[in-house]
Amino acid sequence: MKRIVQLRVNGVAREVAVEPHHILLDVLRQEFDLIGPREGCGIGMCGACTVLVDGVPLSSCLMLAALAAGKELVTIEGLSTGSELHPIQQAYLDHNAFQCSYCTPGFILGTKALLDENPSPTPGEVREYLSGNLCRCGSYVKILDAVLDAAQRLHSASEAGGVSGSLGPGANT
Ligand code: FES
Ligand code: FES
Repeated sequence: MKRIVQLRVNGVAREVAVEPHHILLDVLRQEFDLIGPREGCGIGMCGACTVLVDGVPLSSCLMLAALAAGKELVTIEGLSTGSELHPIQQAYLDHNAFQCSYCTPGFILGTKALLDENPSPTPGEVREYLSGNLCRCGSYVKILDAVLDAAQRLHSASEAGGVSGSLGPGANT
């Protein structure tokens, strides 16, 4: 039997009727047209469906939508503001850190969580933190370059007084 659940997605309060077994990934994509989170494996092994839940990167394919009630959810659609990309997105773009880009939203949100937690990670720390995200195209070297560059960009932006217009709801950089 469906029940109404209140969600907060990319800073906006949303209400949706869900069955107890509905997973968050399907609700985001099918009810809210947020197609950034993608289904890869469907079993929590690839990271393509990553969303930030209260700032923590989680596999939305494993999370029941009802359990997301009251949490702050951020999808890739919530990271940029208007036409201005978040510095992490821009770094991925500048480094061509993707080929088909299927994995990219998950990687970028994982990067966001990493840099919120550890603004100056070593290459090893980046690899470890993002080890749950898989890229079938093998863009790992460029992704690592993009993450390290994004850390520099965010550091410079914070020294200059903050990142302009691109932090997404629930962000804490
Ligand atoms: S689709 Fe969720 S981890 Fe692969
Ligand atoms: S760019 Fe194709 S899966 Fe990563």
